[in-house]
Amino acid sequence: MYEPRAMLSEFVKTWLNYVAKELLKKKVALAALEHIKSDSLVGLGTGSTAKYLIEGLGEKIKRGELSNITAIATSKESHELAIKQGITMLELSQKEIDIAIDGMDEVDPELNLVKGLGGALTREKLVEAHAKKLIYMADDSKIVDYLGQKAPIPVEVIQFGLAVTKAKLTRLELKPVLRLKNNQAFISDNGNYILDCYLNSKRDLEELANQIIKIPGVVEHGLFLNMADIVYIAKEEQIIKMTRDDK
Ligand code: 5RP
Repeated sequence: MYEPRAMLSEFVKTWLNYVAKELLKKKVALAALEHIKSDSLVGLGTGSTAKYLIEGLGEKIKRGELSNITAIATSKESHELAIKQGITMLELSQKEIDIAIDGMDEVDPELNLVKGLGGALTREKLVEAHAKKLIYMADDSKIVDYLGQKAPIPVEVIQFGLAVTKAKLTRLELKPVLRLKNNQAFISDNGNYILDCYLNSKRDLEELANQIIKIPGVVEHGLFLNMADIVYIAKEEQIIKMTRDDK
């Protein structure tokens, strides 16, 4: 039955949850932003949390609180946003990145991550593997006991031979699903497809990552293992900082 009051209250609840989540993202992005120092080459992540980081960085540069900042983006979207913020953007080169900061989709107790629900995993891995210091950030809904618990593992594959690549991923006991956008296959910034691979249990991550990357047609996967130096988690009023001591 049509109940306008109930519908309105549901709408208000959803909207308030959205606003609360956005505030958390902004808060955690501003905490991570504190790590960026003047005279740095910065790797800029992709996604709704990284957006707050890029905007915050642009504001700090405009206020004169940071100088001589150059940056490399992990997606066309972040690149364009950074240009709008007045940040000097470079292409990825052999020059090592001082610090890279990005969002994430899952983090396990060892600070291994799943990334790529925004579709930028390949550029994210390229840029972030080339950084001296790596910081990730998210709200506490992204904490999991094991990777794959809530999110699929995104795997970027070339378009040619999709059915064969998909069958090989299925043989690894993954459930690959072609990512869609507006009812069409999602196409990454690199012109490739994404197969979102669902796990049905906890897996040996190193082994799984090695098996996936060996499949012909696979470009990259969204398992970011042993990479994070610091992970910031926003939880209600708190920002929790987790570090990997063994790095
Ligand atoms: C994009 C990513 C993003 O960092 C990840 O999806 C998190 O995004 P958001 O901050 O919007 O939750 O990996 O490829």
